[in-house]
Amino acid sequence: MCGIVGYVGKRQATDICIQSLHCMEYRGYDSAGVAVITDSGELVLRRAVGKLTNLEADLAKEPVVGSLGLGHTRWATHGKPSVANSHPHLSCDGRIAVVHNGIIENYQELRAELEAEGHVFKSQTDTEVMAHLVEKYFKGDLRAAVIESVNRLRGAFAFGIISADAPGQLVAVRRRSPLVVGIGEGENYIASDMPAIRSETDKVYVIDDDEMALITADNIELTDLDLKPIKKDVYLIPWPADAAGKGGYDHFMLKEIHEQPDAIYACLAGRLTAADAPVKLEGLNLTVDEIKKIRKVVFTACGTAYHSGLVGRFVMEKLAKIPSEADLAPELRSRDAIVLEDTLVIAVTQSGETMDTLLALRDMRAKGAKVVSVVNVVDSTIARESDGVVYIQAGPEIGVASTKAYTLQLLTIELIALYFAEVRGTATAEQLKAMKESMLALPDAAKTCLSREDSITAIAKKYHDLSRETWAKHGVDIVDPGKPAADKGYWSTTKRGDAMRPHSLYLGRGVNLPSAMEGALKLKEISYIHAEGYSAGEMKHGPIALVEPAMFTVAIAVEGEVKDQMVANIMEIKARSGPVIAVATDGDTGIENTGVDKGASPDDVASQANDMIWIPSCPELVSPILVGIPLQLLAYHMAKFRGEHIDQPRNLAKTVTVE
Ligand code: G6P
Repeated sequence: MCGIVGYVGKRQATDICIQSLHCMEYRGYDSAGVAVITDSGELVLRRAVGKLTNLEADLAKEPVVGSLGLGHTRWATHGKPSVANSHPHLSCDGRIAVVHNGIIENYQELRAELEAEGHVFKSQTDTEVMAHLVEKYFKGDLRAAVIESVNRLRGAFAFGIISADAPGQLVAVRRRSPLVVGIGEGENYIASDMPAIRSETDKVYVIDDDEMALITADNIELTDLDLKPIKKDVYLIPWPADAAGKGGYDHFMLKEIHEQPDAIYACLAGRLTAADAPVKLEGLNLTVDEIKKIRKVVFTACGTAYHSGLVGRFVMEKLAKIPSEADLAPELRSRDAIVLEDTLVIAVTQSGETMDTLLALRDMRAKGAKVVSVVNVVDSTIARESDGVVYIQAGPEIGVASTKAYTLQLLTIELIALYFAEVRGTATAEQLKAMKESMLALPDAAKTCLSREDSITAIAKKYHDLSRETWAKHGVDIVDPGKPAADKGYWSTTKRGDAMRPHSLYLGRGVNLPSAMEGALKLKEISYIHAEGYSAGEMKHGPIALVEPAMFTVAIAVEGEVKDQMVANIMEIKARSGPVIAVATDGDTGIENTGVDKGASPDDVASQANDMIWIPSCPELVSPILVGIPLQLLAYHMAKFRGEHIDQPRNLAKTVTVE
């Protein structure tokens, strides 16, 4: 998703902008650019397609000297990735530069109007209309021109705007797209998010819809669009500057996976202190009476957050006995869902800015539902628009593939379900105690999962290309595949270098069906290995047709009600020559033959599967929190063996602020 930054001060604007853009690479982008007002009063533009290093190389060849500038990383929405479509965009006279995150919905009619007036457009973007609008309205006061322009726009935007005719001034404005103003000494900043400027300052103003800032090196003037002054508290960024760095790990994703034991601990702190103490949740903003009255819970989210909502649905019904569903945010909107009285919507989102989730939230609120959100980014749009918000407190998550945020979403949702169960009196004291004990043990259990990374790395090594040997056995020469062994039907993979891409199936049941879906999502996101997350109960109705040596199955068979059925599924796959990686509970070596169909008698999961991933014992309802961790590691190491861009996978964005 596009990232905007801006700097005004005494240092070189390009240096600060590039450094800040690097901190936002996790958002995903396909091109980048900077615009700087030079010391001699000229506006200089530099843009490049691809990684930021391309832009840096260009700047190194011919540096741009000036202490007022804008920077941008673009994630294409209107017009393909190209230099012409990269931001910043300029006015006809080249004296005004604009960076933008969001979508201008009425850009076509505005463009037609401006073209009729003689403005010449150089890109296919919606953003460029803003540069021309500001040019049209500019009569010596940049901020006034921005206000007049913004009043013509429909859609979502965070803008940074500078002009060679307004030296020393940076104007920023927002509607529905995130924007912060960083406060320095003798220098100030703007950015799409806090990690971008955390290494420069820990003090920011979080800008709201239809607010703007006129920023100089020594002053920040916050107003609304009628120039009414706005008083805002300075927000102190609570995490240290190096929290946004890789901290010695090869990738942000790996760092974030390893942060999970501490993150779980921090998320529990103050909320669950002992197995016999009640759950305390700040921010929920629901009275005991309201909680007792809830007749339905609807989880809504996108991507990984949706998977945590699916677990939430399960846990909410089991513990709090409230009929629950989980809906993908865009689907919830498009089916125009009926909202019954006393419905609680729980919107789950790491960024708090996902447009589909935001629009679903607005829809549901408009229909009378109360909305509580489970959010990571403090003060994000969704957090602010909800009736209540419970923060997962994961700190910044930079890797595009969500890991620690997912784990903490699960934990937070389970805490909410536990709390509801306590208030409504729907769970037995033993059930509550067992859940709480295992939750308190989660930081250590997560550590145990991570301590087994080597064995997961070995599994990833074995399966990331299903090895030349496997293929040779089936008559396919990997180095020079030539004609596939068509008669053997094993040509269902794609080739990358000399490493064949396998495909995969992730199976789970009950509360761990979402774990299978999330495990598969993680793998496909970063390794580009095709992975399907599927209900093991549905396997016979389709996916079983895919079973072959080139497709490995990850089967989640941890202890609990559905374990025996999972073992039966594993045997069915093994009987058809499909390799199986099983996720099972420590010490599970004596499973009885109950529930295993077809009369077979497995001794244990280990004897059925080709490879094992073990997790510490815990109640089934808590197990998704632990199952997720090794599956994240498996995806990470598969992608690493395949040499992929783990932190910025192709075509993906961390924060999707468009529908
Ligand atoms: C994008 C990210 C995913 C994330 C999803 C929802 O697709 O790449 O990792 O799960 O958005 O994001 P949210 O910020 O709402 O959790």
